[in-house]
Amino acid sequence: MKRVHTLLLTVVIVLIGFPAAGALDNLSARTAMSWPPQQKIDVPYEPTSEKVVVRMLDIATVGPRDLVYDLGCGDGRIVIEAVRRKGARGVGIDIDPKRIQESNENARKAGVTDRVVFIQQDLFDSDIGKATVVMLYLLPSVNLKLRPKLFRELDPGTRVVSHSHDMGDWKADRREKVKGHDIYFWVIPANVAGTWAWAVPDGQGNKQYNLKIGQRFQEVIGTFFFGNTEAPVRDIRLTGRRLSFMVDRMMDGKKTSFRYEGEVNGNTIEGTAKPEHGSSAGTEAWKAKRNPNAATAVETRD
Ligand SMILES: C[S@@+](CC[C@H](N)C(=O)[O-])C[C@H]1O[C@@H](n2cnc3c(N)ncnc32)[C@H](O)[C@@H]1O
Repeated sequence: MKRVHTLLLTVVIVLIGFPAAGALDNLSARTAMSWPPQQKIDVPYEPTSEKVVVRMLDIATVGPRDLVYDLGCGDGRIVIEAVRRKGARGVGIDIDPKRIQESNENARKAGVTDRVVFIQQDLFDSDIGKATVVMLYLLPSVNLKLRPKLFRELDPGTRVVSHSHDMGDWKADRREKVKGHDIYFWVIPANVAGTWAWAVPDGQGNKQYNLKIGQRFQEVIGTFFFGNTEAPVRDIRLTGRRLSFMVDRMMDGKKTSFRYEGEVNGNTIEGTAKPEHGSSAGTEAWKAKRNPNAATAVETRD
């Protein structure tokens, strides 16, 4: 009878699956990793095809000096290809531990573990400030929710590529279709809105110049003032930190077109103003300053 009881107990334990110590460890590890993040997945997993991955890397002109982030990295394919094909380094962030496990496994198989890091994290909590390129394959609503973070944390000049989805009223700098899939490309613009001032010595003291810029993302308009005289600004462009525009000014008593080009760093723009007559004679150094209190954020929606 005692033997029958022992046998029965063994059968019951096997049937209800009494876990061994190791199995318990695995169970608690799995539980700790998958809950609660699994409940917060904003976008279901769907991998980007190889053709689209390659084009995304090309459009962003990814190279060996880049640090490529994929926010919602899935099985890690975009950052792994950024290393394999372009010699870049990569960071993949995904909320789903299964995806991070796959990414690490794929990085190991591709022999790139020394140049990639995969982090299990909510992309909205991730620290993305070091990225030079950000890759996305999310959803339109998630892109819009992410947009203020991109403007807050990324340096001007950082490239952003999105598979399938746009960024609402932040127009893409470039858009392409590959095998029926849209690819959008943006460069994070510097913040240039406000009034910039500088002075140029002209023999009888300094000439005062001002440039007033209105900005909506990378789209800018400008008005130029020398003293109290206003002049229209033509062909004004902002790409990352690079600002350029044309303006007609007097030089040696003659109306002359000048091309201004400069690099924006916070509240300073430094560059040159060149008369458009072919030679470099008359080229001036250009250093403009903005009152820091007058600057407003490029993206204020949060
Ligand atoms: C459409 S897949 C894209 C995968 C990969 N980027 C690619 O293009 O092949 C979206 C990925 O985002 C991840 N994801 C969804 N919500 C997330 C969140 N809040 N934080 C981080 N990752 C998230 C999903 O787990 C999924 O792997």
